[in-house]
This record gives sequence, structure tokens and C-alpha cells, in this order.
Amino acid sequence: MTAPKKLFIKTYGCQMNVYDSERMAEELGGQGYSETKSVEDADMILLNTCHIREKAAEKVYSELGRFKKLKAAKPDLKIGVAGCVAQAEGQEIMRRQPLVDLVVGPQSYHRLPEMEAKARSGEKVLDTDFPEEDKFEKLKRRPKAPRGPSAFLTVQEGCDKFCAFCVVPYTRGAEVSRPVDRILTEARDLVERGVREITLLGQNVNAYHGAGPQGDMTLAQLIWELDKVEGLERIRFTTSHPNDMMDDLIEAHATCKKLMPYLHLPVQAGSDRILKRMNRSHTAESYLRLLERIRAARPDILISGDFIVGFPEETEADFQATLDLVEEVKYGTAYSFKYSTRPGTPAAERPQVDPTEADDRLQRLQALLTRQQREIQDSMVGREVGVLFEKPGREAGQMLGKSDYLHAVHVADCGRKAGDLARVRIIESRTNSLAGELID
Ligand code: 5AD
Ligand code: SF4
Repeated sequence: MTAPKKLFIKTYGCQMNVYDSERMAEELGGQGYSETKSVEDADMILLNTCHIREKAAEKVYSELGRFKKLKAAKPDLKIGVAGCVAQAEGQEIMRRQPLVDLVVGPQSYHRLPEMEAKARSGEKVLDTDFPEEDKFEKLKRRPKAPRGPSAFLTVQEGCDKFCAFCVVPYTRGAEVSRPVDRILTEARDLVERGVREITLLGQNVNAYHGAGPQGDMTLAQLIWELDKVEGLERIRFTTSHPNDMMDDLIEAHATCKKLMPYLHLPVQAGSDRILKRMNRSHTAESYLRLLERIRAARPDILISGDFIVGFPEETEADFQATLDLVEEVKYGTAYSFKYSTRPGTPAAERPQVDPTEADDRLQRLQALLTRQQREIQDSMVGREVGVLFEKPGREAGQMLGKSDYLHAVHVADCGRKAGDLARVRIIESRTNSLAGELID
């Protein structure tokens, strides 16, 4: 029996990191670790990092610096770095920050127990391989502990698209899809533990092509398999690439009741010249036509997107094309970023846009996106939506949940518990949430 130890995990970046952190905590659970929310109590600190933009990586180094005092007071404290910064800069982390005992890349999480044991015996350990074996097969099954109504489930990982700005193909590796039966087993297990909504995750989730009983299955076919799982009420997926938006997936948005009317479909830019330089292999026009087809299948679908401004060689006219596209699409939510040079990616070598110009463009784009987001949120008032309740709100009797469209909704004097689904009429749109009342 190993002595009980405390693990503190901090997660940066995307939803896949959130999922990975859960799996790492379970894996280290087998080594006698239980999770703590207090960094002072920890016997091991793990930072699950993101490398998508420069700022994200810099945050990790400044966070690590803050652990110096803790380690001085508790020499047995082990500090680990996981995630995409670990993958991209493993050696550099070890060199730059001697506090770090362990560095583990995203494809090696199943090796954590061995690594932890070595770190305990005083070794410095680094594993940023892309191993042959499948980490999901090796990672321990989740214990039957109850959990919240909404969960992530990774079905696909990595990317072969090589957008010119993006580190993902280098940090997460080549695209891999998990087999259908494994996903179904994990989904049933989650449902048994109280989960009602599953968000299928993948860097290119709609390129999913996992092995099924009769050959490879598409994401839509996987969704239809999950549709049969009793007790699972809602299915979502993210993130999709416009070029992999297959007909059967569009069709599923029209016919699969469990599939929620929300689609995160990044376009990145509205200028064809820039899209080409980004190696996106779609145009603004083809993206707009695709959305037309999706909206024909599911007219109320809420569209979400990602944007990069100030990509190398972006002119004011190119940027204007992005604004024009946004005006046409009307996004319900969106994430917009200033281009950040990522060493080793093709765009890093190209002439950069003046940073103040890029800041100005980002502000203008965000003003437009915020306005659209507000208009769409406000347009929910008076509508009936499904809400999955997740937790009590701040006021007594109030419950907080998510609508079908992923808006935060609170209901006063609710009388429902976490995990309940209800029909709700939206009565008010507030700053970051909607207020609603139950429909009997
Ligand atoms: N600079 C800025 N934003 C980036 N993204 C990816 N790489 C970069 C980069 N180098 C954005 C894209 C992507 C989202 C996850 O992050 O918009 O869709
Ligand atoms: Fe990065 Fe492009 Fe792949 Fe998305 S599709 S992960 S942006 S390379």
C-alpha cells in the first residue's frame, strides 16, 4: 500500500487538456494520490500546459518560478510539466527551471506512474516520445466515482492539416482516431457515474475515422451509436475543420435529437489570399456555402468560431474581408487571437504585421463579435430551450445549467437537481447568462 499523497493539477488551454488532466489524476490515483485544490498541501504539482500561443507558454515559466518557496519548505515536493509545452520544450524546461522533476508529453501519460516513482527516488525524468502503444489502452479505467452531468471524451487526437500558424501537428502528433467500442465503453461508464452530456473531443474531431465492427466509422456514425446509449441525453463535439464537414454529419444535425444545435467551426480569416497562406484549403465563399447547408439542416444552430488577426502579410483589406465574413455569418460565440509566432511553423519565417496594427484589428474584430454574441444571446428571450442543470446558483433555490445552445441559464426556485434536464422559457438576458423559468 502506498502512503496517501496529494496531487495538485493546474490545467491550461483547451478542453482536451481538461480531459487529459482528469485521466492523469486517475492514473496517479493508482499511486496513492488524491487531488487537492490547495497547492500548499501538494506532494506533487503538475502543470498541464498549452503551447498554442506564446503567452500561454510564458505563463508556465512564471508559474513555475512561484513554486520555489514551496519546494524549499518541502524538499519532497515533486513538480511536473505535462501538455504541449512539455512536448515542444521538454529539454529547455529542464534547463531553464531546475525545480522541475518530471516532464511528460501528451502521448506518454500512461507512463506517469513509472515516471513518478523515478522522480520520487530523486531522478529527473523526461518522456516526450510518440510511443507505438496506445496510451488510451494503457491508461487505467476510471473508477466508479460519481461525477458532474457534463463530461469530455477524447475520440480523436492530433492533426495532419498543418495550418501554417499552428503547433498542434508537432505537439499532439499525427491524427489518430480511437476505436468505436472503446469510446462506447467509456461513454457508458460515464453515464453510470451520472453524466448526461458528452462532448466528443478532437483537434479535428470531424475527421474522426475510428475502427468499428464493419470497418471505419465517421463521426456521424459514432454519434448515432452514442445516440443509443440509454441515459445519455446530449451529444456535442469540438473542434471541427470546414473541410471535414461531411454530409452525414450535417444530416445528423437535422435528425439526431441528442445532437445539440451548436457548432464550433473555425474559419480563422475571411480573406482568400490569407486563407491560402494559412494553408487552410477552404475559401471564405466555400465556408459560407457550407454554413448555408448546415443551417438548412438545422436552422437554429448556433455557430461559434476562431479567428486570427495580424497573420503575416495581412493587409487592412484582408482584415476587412474578415469583418465582412463575420457580418455575414453572425456568430453566437467566437474566440479571436492576435497571431503569435510559433517557432518551427511555416508562418514564423514570414514578414510579420506591425503589432500595434494587429492590436487595433483585434479590438475592432472583438467589438463586432461581442455585439453579435450579445444580439444572439438577447434573441433567446421569450424562447423555450432545453436546460441541463449542473449546480446550484448563488441564490437559495436557484439552479444553474446550460441551454442547448450552450448559454449559461439560471432558474430561480427551481426544485431540480444537478443532472436534471428541463424545458425552460428564457425571461431575461443578463451580462453573461440568461434567466429562465421552468415550463411545466
Ligand atoms: N497564433 C494565434 N492564434 C493561434 N491559434 C492557433 N495557432 C495560433 C497562433 N500561432 C488559434 C486558432 C485555433 C485556436 C485553437 O487557436 O484560431 O483555432
Ligand atoms: Fe492547428 Fe489547423 Fe490542425 Fe486546427 S486544423 S489543429 S488550426 S493545424
